[in-house]
Amino acid sequence: MTGPRGLFVAFEGGDGVGKTTQQALLAERLRARGRDVVVTREPGDSRIGQQVRAIVLDGGELDPRAEALLFAADRADHVAHVIRPALERGAVVLVDRYVDSSVTYQGEGRGLGREQIAAISRFATQGLLPHLTVVLDLDEAARAERVRRQSYVDRIEREPDHLHERVRQAFLELAAAAPDRYLVVDAARTPEEIAADIAVAVDKVIEG
Ligand code: TYD
Repeated sequence: MTGPRGLFVAFEGGDGVGKTTQQALLAERLRARGRDVVVTREPGDSRIGQQVRAIVLDGGELDPRAEALLFAADRADHVAHVIRPALERGAVVLVDRYVDSSVTYQGEGRGLGREQIAAISRFATQGLLPHLTVVLDLDEAARAERVRRQSYVDRIEREPDHLHERVRQAFLELAAAAPDRYLVVDAARTPEEIAADIAVAVDKVIEG
């Protein structure tokens, strides 16, 4: 990553794998050490994000290309107004989903092509990539069971299991292709065990 001085960590993985819990645990740990930490998510934490979220996740049928472009539009605004300014003042930014969610869900899951979707995201973010991406990996049966227990299931979570299995494989392949920028953790363990692995990886990035 060029430019911004802060630390940028993304949390990725299927639905219901515990990304939000891990994001909160890492934020707590870094704040206890005096770091300025920004906790954010996609879609949703930018100026236009709430509206994009309503269309993409709660709305009715949507053309897959329109869906991909809406996620990208949300990301562009999010990077410009939230992520980049925070990194420029030296903060730690912890984002729940980023470029890889588009590459896996829209590129692989919707069949739009991983490279094409990655290119749209590069345009949206002006090439801003996380220092570290944590992939919380959970097998398909466990993921489906966690989603079934949720009180609200969004438009993408309602997609058939085979889409989610392809998404999972795509996350693992992205991580395998760039092991120095990814940490894959087994999300079936306790939150404390998972958090300990993430802490080690983040400390390594901080220490450079
Ligand atoms: P969200 O309610 O944030 O769920 P989760 O807690 O699982 O992250 O909904 C995000 C949904 O949007 C999730 O099903 C994945 C999907 N998504 C995409 O398909 N592409 C994207 O680029 C992003 C950011 C999310």
